Amino acid sequence: MNSTIKFAKKTLINNRRSNYTLPTNTKLYPAQWNWDSAFIALGYSNFNLDYSFKEIETLISGQWDDGMIPHILFHIKDLNYTPNYKAWNCGGKISSSGITQPPILASILRIIIERQKFSKKKVKKYQTLILKIKKYLKWFIRYRDPKRTGLISILHPWESGYDNSPLWDKPMSKVKIDSKLNYKRKDNKIVKKSQRPLKIDYDRYVTIKNHLRQLNYDPKKLYFKSKFNVVDVGFNSLFLKALKDLDFLLKFIGKKSSFLKKYILLNESKLVKLYNSKKMKFKNKDLKNNTSVEIPSITNFFMLFADLNNNLINRELIKSLKKYSKNEKYFFPSISSKHKSFEEKRYWRGPVWVNCNWIIYQGLKNKDKKFAEIIRKKTINLVEKKKFREYYSCKSGLGMGAKNFSWTAALYLDFKLNRS
Ligand code: DGY
Repeated sequence: MNSTIKFAKKTLINNRRSNYTLPTNTKLYPAQWNWDSAFIALGYSNFNLDYSFKEIETLISGQWDDGMIPHILFHIKDLNYTPNYKAWNCGGKISSSGITQPPILASILRIIIERQKFSKKKVKKYQTLILKIKKYLKWFIRYRDPKRTGLISILHPWESGYDNSPLWDKPMSKVKIDSKLNYKRKDNKIVKKSQRPLKIDYDRYVTIKNHLRQLNYDPKKLYFKSKFNVVDVGFNSLFLKALKDLDFLLKFIGKKSSFLKKYILLNESKLVKLYNSKKMKFKNKDLKNNTSVEIPSITNFFMLFADLNNNLINRELIKSLKKYSKNEKYFFPSISSKHKSFEEKRYWRGPVWVNCNWIIYQGLKNKDKKFAEIIRKKTINLVEKKKFREYYSCKSGLGMGAKNFSWTAALYLDFKLNRS
């Protein structure tokens, strides 16, 4: 067996705790993270289906009564993370954060089930999981689009997963930092400061979080009162795909939801309006400040993953993506290197992230096989050369952030063992 495959499996197993997996074995992220966990479950499905479903079940076990699956589950009361479980002060029987993350879980579960060629009877075994995911996606519609505009809001940059992306610079610049903040960062003692978000970012992350806590994380209030409320192209693309994949899973277990089906049509029609064909540009809506934001971010191309029912737009998106990455040795920079906000080494402001490559590959493989294959090979080569790092430079391939990063190992396995 190829030694990187062996090492990838070992990395996941080493990061595994009882029934869930840490994002890395360094102390940077000492808990279970929502979208990390979904990618990790996909990785396991390539060699240990039992671990794969355990990972998913543990994540879902943190679901709140209202339907939300939090972005962090603190199974162990480790204080060595900021903000820790006490600072969040919420959750059901499992302490958690009070916000969520991209619901990629629905799409991952569909891939696992389809690849395994489970019979309808076997899928029934997972009926409870599927229905809990349904409750989760309905939660988004109910509380993150209470006016039924067709677009879902995120209420904290951490909800996107791309925490310090320049996408948030403008909306965050409007957040007045709480003068009585009292917190100590741990992250920039573990990873180089120059690769992590700035102090001013953290001051605002904590300010928004404290405010959500003051509102008792009441989902009915947060949409209207949060200091941050953004409709993001990438997040809505992942959400739309999640809805489509849930619809597929529901059919499998003999259920349907006309409510979700209607929202799929509405969401898709509104999502394409965030794309300007003439300029080949995307726009986010900052609902809090009633303005729009245009930043060339790789996450805009998650629209390819959403499988829009529009060949013309899909073709244009591919053309635009090729232009976006034309001058790069390593694919894909998280922000176009030509943009003024690009930073080669700082977290989500430029580095290459393997999960973004995987999402875009999935979106491309039924639309441009040749380009999809280039991405698959380039990602595999980068990881084999630089090992399982959290992120990489698009210029030199330098590996950065955490080492032994779980989703990099998981998605490497997925790229390597599943050629379409
Ligand atoms: C972190 O701690 O940097 C995480 O990305 C927040 O979810």
